[in-house]
Amino acid sequence: MFLSSLLTGSFLAVLANGAAVAADQVGDLAPRTDSRGPVLNIVAPNITSKWFEGSNYVQIIEMFVENTDDKEYVTSGNGLQISVRSSSLDTVVPGTLKRLAPKQSAIVQVGVRNKRGVKPGTACSAEIVPEYRGRHSAGNSAKVSGSCGIGDFEESVQSVQSHTNPDWFNDAKYGIFIHWGVYAAPAYGNVGDKENYAEWYWNWMHRKGDKTATYEYHLETYGQDFNYDDFFSNFTDKKFDPKAWVDLFSDAGAQYFVPTTKHHDGFAIFNCSESISRRSSVHYGPKRDFIGDLFAAARKHQPHLRLGTYFSMPEWYNPAYKPYGSGSFPGGPPTNPYTGAELEYTGYVEVDDFVRDIQLPQMKTLAYEYGVDIMWCDISGSPNNMTILAAPWLNWARDHRRQVTFNNRCGLKGDFDTPEYTTNNETVERKWEASRGMDPHSYGYNYQTPDDKYLTGENITRTLVDIVSKNGNFLLDIGPAHDGSIPEIMQKGLRDAGRWIKGHGEAIFDTRYWKVTPGVDPLRYTTTRDAFYIHHLGAPSVSLSIPDPVPYLPGDKVTVVGGKQHGKSVPVSWDGIGKLTLKLSDEVIKGDEYVWAFKIEYK
Ligand SMILES: *[C@@H]1O[C@H](CO)[C@@H](O)[C@H](O)[C@H]1NC(C)=O
Ligand SMILES: *[C@@H]1O[C@H](CO)[C@@H](O)[C@H](O)[C@H]1NC(C)=O
Ligand SMILES: *[C@@H]1O[C@H](CO)[C@@H](O)[C@H](O)[C@H]1NC(C)=O
Ligand SMILES: *[C@@H]1O[C@H](CO)[C@@H](O)[C@H](O)[C@H]1NC(C)=O
Ligand SMILES: *[C@@H]1O[C@H](CO)[C@@H](O)[C@H](O)[C@H]1NC(C)=O
Ligand SMILES: *[C@@H]1O[C@H](CO)[C@@H](O)[C@H](O)[C@H]1NC(C)=O
Repeated sequence: MFLSSLLTGSFLAVLANGAAVAADQVGDLAPRTDSRGPVLNIVAPNITSKWFEGSNYVQIIEMFVENTDDKEYVTSGNGLQISVRSSSLDTVVPGTLKRLAPKQSAIVQVGVRNKRGVKPGTACSAEIVPEYRGRHSAGNSAKVSGSCGIGDFEESVQSVQSHTNPDWFNDAKYGIFIHWGVYAAPAYGNVGDKENYAEWYWNWMHRKGDKTATYEYHLETYGQDFNYDDFFSNFTDKKFDPKAWVDLFSDAGAQYFVPTTKHHDGFAIFNCSESISRRSSVHYGPKRDFIGDLFAAARKHQPHLRLGTYFSMPEWYNPAYKPYGSGSFPGGPPTNPYTGAELEYTGYVEVDDFVRDIQLPQMKTLAYEYGVDIMWCDISGSPNNMTILAAPWLNWARDHRRQVTFNNRCGLKGDFDTPEYTTNNETVERKWEASRGMDPHSYGYNYQTPDDKYLTGENITRTLVDIVSKNGNFLLDIGPAHDGSIPEIMQKGLRDAGRWIKGHGEAIFDTRYWKVTPGVDPLRYTTTRDAFYIHHLGAPSVSLSIPDPVPYLPGDKVTVVGGKQHGKSVPVSWDGIGKLTLKLSDEVIKGDEYVWAFKIEYK
């Protein structure tokens, strides 16, 4: 918030002298980098619940560092070190920055550990102190308080909501979402303007005149006596190849995947205790634990992939959901929409309470037995026992040195927000993950969607770059067919995008957003501690002017990232912040596809 107000006007003075000059001719215009360094502010620091991945629980304190000066840069020459002073904490990994342009800010992390005798989870406070080389003050220190050490979460909303998404999730950027279940048998959601989620087929069946016309379609295609549960036997594993699935996700460049384990129809495709429900692929149809097989294949063949599980909190027509039912989730038993006859809820086991006896135990199974990294719930606001699940699960994961995360649809605020079939048009500071299908409007497979309506490699790449530049992750959905095959058109789009993503990974993964909105549409930016990345959506022209105050300084190396000219040096001209121009040769322009990326490596 504070930065948008800073980024107006102040650097214009630097630009007042006009015409562009080559970087090596810069004289009077050169910024001051010789003094001790600009005055910094530490803004909005937090003692987080996360630790450096792979470390011995080195806790992360995270903050924005703001350069208050309107001319002077922070450079590596300043030797910035940010540490904490506290009676509870020692600084283990001081915060550093190699570059911070005038009036800009960046995220910095400091690693700390409790002093001897201070128990993990102790309420504590600390002072955050920025210093330049030689222990000269670098500006204003800040106070922070919170929980020192990676302590226990308690079964309370407040405690569980103090959890933060782990850095690996922020680094991973791109995941594959999979909607696969009984609804893949009819695979119908209408087309054109009226297209809608195919995985909602059973619910649409009950809505005569609804835009998907599923009520009419089902009657004509299957007849009034064919009930939704009759599709169970058409949901098969005939072409299901878990290794081929996870190899595809890896080829796609994804870092995680999130299959539906149970959608609103209540049909689970994982192995949950039959004393609470037999409505699953383990008991009906293929008699197979699909999630178990998929996770085993990932762990064996693509162990870098993190594992998530989509889980629907309610079930539309579960008889035990009746006491909680409302709106689209009335509870059961289900009825035949044509005759009104009451139907069996196949696989139903009588329980006392839906939340306590079905939802919570199934989530526990996913959390502990399947060992998920991401609990991706759906239908926030439905009754739940998430605090009871989350606190012991987070503590257990911590004891196993694992940092797990959950979204904002489990009934609590969660670790990240989840825009659906839309994206944030601006940077949003709270972590978010946008999802959509490769289909124009369905997560589940819709056999009617023509191939040319699916997202292409180019669409995926542009969307990913756009989302990542705004602090988001992209969870891109595929809808496998009823027999476990993944339609060719989906595979093609994923592999095309994967080629680009793998070639440009350093400009995507492990990056952070830059808090400046691009001045012209095709530009996007990402940052790391050592470099700044400029992305151009689509082919750039030979002279690419960057109107935004990118933190370039003479002496930095500018190179092409990805494509046939990867690593090639790019000549630039620069006459002050906000006036960088890249000179691109024909080979560079012809050397890539979809999105062109350039790296400014700080000297
Ligand atoms: C610290 O937490 C507050 C409140 O959740 C948030 O607004 C702020 O952005 C956080 N600071 C950082 C550096 O993430
Ligand atoms: C379901 O399977 C039956 C028997 O194999 C077959 O006759 C029917 O056409 C299938 N229906 C669908 C929707 O695939
Ligand atoms: C499901 O779990 C039960 C109990 O652990 C086990 O006996 C059974 O073989 C599993 N079924 C499948 C299909 O994995
Ligand atoms: C757990 O769920 C039950 C049933 O919905 C509810 O009565 C209870 O308040 C919930 N407990 C918590 C801590 O959420
Ligand atoms: C982003 O902009 C589009 C088009 O104007 C709009 O439909 C969408 O709702 C916006 N997204 C958000 C999260 O506001
Ligand atoms: C995908 O790319 C095509 C061709 O560039 C474009 O017409 C279409 O609008 C894009 N679709 C989306 C959803 O971005």
